[in-house]
Amino acid sequence: MNDVQGKTVVLLGGESAEREVSLNSGRCIAEALRGEGIEVETFDWLPERMEAFLGRKYGRVYIALHGGSGEDGRVQSMLSLAGIPYTGVRPSAAANGMDKHLSKIIVRGMTDVPVPEAVIMPAREALKVVSEGASGRWNTIVSKLGIPMIVKPARNGSSVGVTLVTEAGMLDKAVRDACVTEDELVMFEQYVSGYELTVAVLNGRALGVCQIIPKNAFYDWDAKYNRDDTEYLTPSSLGEAFDRRLCEMAEKVARSLSCTHGVVRADFLADRSLNPYFLEINTVPGMTSHSLVPKIALQAGMTFGQLCVEVLQGAE
Ligand SMILES: Nc1ncnc2c1ncn2[C@@H]1O[C@H](COP(=O)(O)OP(=O)(O)O)[C@@H](O)[C@H]1O
Ligand SMILES: [Mg+2]
Repeated sequence: MNDVQGKTVVLLGGESAEREVSLNSGRCIAEALRGEGIEVETFDWLPERMEAFLGRKYGRVYIALHGGSGEDGRVQSMLSLAGIPYTGVRPSAAANGMDKHLSKIIVRGMTDVPVPEAVIMPAREALKVVSEGASGRWNTIVSKLGIPMIVKPARNGSSVGVTLVTEAGMLDKAVRDACVTEDELVMFEQYVSGYELTVAVLNGRALGVCQIIPKNAFYDWDAKYNRDDTEYLTPSSLGEAFDRRLCEMAEKVARSLSCTHGVVRADFLADRSLNPYFLEINTVPGMTSHSLVPKIALQAGMTFGQLCVEVLQGAE
C-alpha cells in the first residue's frame, strides 16, 4: 500500500455547512489508515487553497469532504484533470448524486425502485411566490402531494433546510428555509411515514441495512449530530427478507447512478406496509466513529480500518 508514488493525503474540511462533520470524518479516516500501517497526511481543503494543494504533489487522495465542492464533482474533476488517483465516485456521478431531483429521475428511469412523488421549483420562482403573497400557487401542490409533505433543498445535505409541513400555513416559511442558495431547487415531496433506512454499498455491493429511529419528528440535523437518543439498528427490525430486498434495491440504485466506486450510502423510507422508496444517495457518507457506514460495515464483519483500506485501495 505504501508503494504509490507520492504521499497519500486525506482531504477534509471544505467550505460547506458540513465542514465540521468532514473534519471529524477525515481525522477518523487518517487515524484508522495509520492504524493499518499506511502513512497519510491530512489537508484542510478550501477552494481558495487549490494551488497550495496541487503544489504538494500528492500521489493519492482519500476524499473525506461532505457537501460543497468535495461532494458535487468539482474536487473530483480537479483531481481527474491533475491525474491524481482519488477515492470514491467519478465527477459526473458526484454531480448527479448531489442533486436529489436528478438522482430520482435517473433511478426512476433506469430501475424499478420506487421514489416518492415530488414537485420541483427553482428557488427564485418559489421565493417570488412567497414575496408576492401568491400562496394560492401552493394549492395545486397540496392537492397533488397531500399534507403532511416534506419541503427541502434538492442540492443540500445533513437535513439543512428540511421541513415537515403539517399544515398549509407552514409552506411559505418552509420554502424560505429550503432556499439555502439562490440557485437551489426546492423539492416539495410526498411524505412517507413509517421507517427510515439506509444501506451502505461498497464497490457496488451492499454491506447491509441500518434502521434509524429518530426521537424528533424526522431525522434532522439535531438527531444526526447532537442528540444521543437516536436509535440505530443493524440489521433492521423489519426482518431478513426485507433487508435483503432493500440491499438489492440499493445495489440497483448505486449501479444506475454509477456509484460503484468506493463506499456510498443510499437512503430509503418505507411506509407502514413495508414498501420502500429511494430518497437520496450520499456519495461521500459520514465516516466518524458514530457514523452509519462504519456501523453497517462492522456488522458485516469489517472493521473501520479495513473499510478505509478497502476504499483507499480502490483509488484511481
Ligand atoms: N419524502 C420524505 N418523507 C418523510 N421524511 C422525509 C422525506 N424526505 C426527507 N425526509 C426526512 O428528512 C431527512 C433528510 O432528508 P434527505 O432527503 O435524506 O436529505 P439530506 O440527508 O441530504 O439532508 C430524512 O432522513 C428523513 O428523516
Ligand atoms: Mg439523507
